Amino acid sequence: MVKADFSQKILEWYREHQRDLPWRSTKDPYHIWLSEIILQQTRVVQGTPYYHKFVEAFPTVHDLAQASEEKVLKLWQGLGYYSRARNLHATAKMVSEEFEGEFPNTYEGLIQLIGVGDYTASAIASISFDLPEPVVDGNVYRVLARYFGVDLAINSPEGVKYFKTLAREVMDTKNICDYNQGIMEFGAIQCAPKKPYCLVCPIQSHCVALNTNQVSVLPKKLNKTKVKQRFFDYLVLLDSEKNTVLEQRTQKGIWYKLYQFPLIEGKKVETLDTMREQIQGLPSLPKIQSISLYNEKPVVHKLSHQHLNTRFWIVETEESLDQGIPWKTVEDYPVPVLISDFLTAFKI
Ligand code: ADE
Repeated sequence: MVKADFSQKILEWYREHQRDLPWRSTKDPYHIWLSEIILQQTRVVQGTPYYHKFVEAFPTVHDLAQASEEKVLKLWQGLGYYSRARNLHATAKMVSEEFEGEFPNTYEGLIQLIGVGDYTASAIASISFDLPEPVVDGNVYRVLARYFGVDLAINSPEGVKYFKTLAREVMDTKNICDYNQGIMEFGAIQCAPKKPYCLVCPIQSHCVALNTNQVSVLPKKLNKTKVKQRFFDYLVLLDSEKNTVLEQRTQKGIWYKLYQFPLIEGKKVETLDTMREQIQGLPSLPKIQSISLYNEKPVVHKLSHQHLNTRFWIVETEESLDQGIPWKTVEDYPVPVLISDFLTAFKI
């Protein structure tokens, strides 16, 4: 293991290859925090437009704090894990109202914030305040596991502890802001998950994985999750005035507080006749004119722990819908991507 010049090589690489990203020209903790919360959810390329949207809509933490939850969820739409957006909002309120708009400037202070865990607290502490805290995200796990040949599972308690300690041992405390971003960037670009560029890698000569032919098997991960199958039948109601109905999800769980069409959830893909009967028997609907199935083959929407087998039913009613909203306004509501994809494809 060559620990001594690992960090210097990472820094050299970063100075030459770093991408010009909007949050790299600031140390303002509000902007760093926003970027890090967004980047936990997605890659840099997909996350950057979200970062711009948030900064533009909410130039300061006070603006974000004062926004409606619906507006925050709408801007977050498409990133998934909507609890992160609600936590973002809660933290903005706390910083705005209790800390006069100033983010805490220590790791211990930062980690108290809602939705800020070890990774985010370390990222803000090091990037905004130059504090010597190592970040360990998926990219860092991969670089360290490969270079040092560590085969502990990155999602096991021993693995998490081991990698954090190793990360602390090899970091460059004097250039922590660049070093932390450098190792993440190195993992994202050079030491990529599937096709790393080992041939042109500046640390290839001491990379244990490369020298022992383990690049494709490191890092190791325990396979813990079993995917649950769920069966969703959405009712796209339409009356003669082109009104429809959206409902807000009120159960905790996926998509809490987002909007969707009325949903029938079953235990399997029900036959078309059974579904028609169920829809016709719904007491809350006015007299039905026609029922047609939009997609016979369920769309499978994959979330990390569940696959949603989804069909959309177009249900036209003779009388006006109670609590109907004009079809044109549907796009103003925060909805899951599954629904917004449907709205893009389906034109009334
Ligand atoms: N991934 C998350 N935050 C990052 C950052 N600041 N630089 C590079 N990659 C990142």
